[in-house]
Amino acid sequence: MKHVYQPGSRQDAPVLLLLHGTGGTERDLLPLASMIDPGASVLGVRGNVLENGMPRFFRRIAEGVFDEEDLKFRTKELHDFLDEAAASNGFDRRNVIAVGYSNGANIAASLLFHYKDSLKGAILHHPMVPLRGIPLPDLTGTPVFIGAGTNDPICSGRETEELTSLLEGAGAKVQVHWESFGHRLTESEAKAAAAWYENTFGAR
Ligand code: MLT
Repeated sequence: MKHVYQPGSRQDAPVLLLLHGTGGTERDLLPLASMIDPGASVLGVRGNVLENGMPRFFRRIAEGVFDEEDLKFRTKELHDFLDEAAASNGFDRRNVIAVGYSNGANIAASLLFHYKDSLKGAILHHPMVPLRGIPLPDLTGTPVFIGAGTNDPICSGRETEELTSLLEGAGAKVQVHWESFGHRLTESEAKAAAAWYENTFGAR
């Protein structure tokens, strides 16, 4: 997958896996990564699917209606890519924390829904429920931050609550931060994610 990798200044720091929204690139969330943990390594990845020229991480049939077969295929593709990227860049595969926005948050949630150990934790900005009707792996203790909008036109508050309870049902430790700026990722939401990260993973 097309990507950018920047090793961090701290040996043991996590690798922040940056997953952009529809139409984004592997570099979009680099400023967010330096807000969250300036010493971390970063792996920004570009989605392999194009929708009218806009990169995405999986196909959709309409807004909010996902192509589930493609979602499963692309989730495995990203999971396998993380194994390869860890081997070729020499980082610890068990130390990957996803930071995703919108479509990128949805594929990160799908990694959590499909694989027990793909992510050490996740920051999900405006995610949806990626898939329904599948058993989730054991996510005991996996920390997840969700940034949500009370008036998000793409993901309703009810869907945020559904995602939270599915993740908590699998044992994840979820914190939801609510704002009222629709689907936007605001600076205050990013700051709340950074504060959560510091509380959860320690000194930055
Ligand atoms: C998706 O397709 O993943 C969601 O609708 C969010 C987005 O617009 O990317």
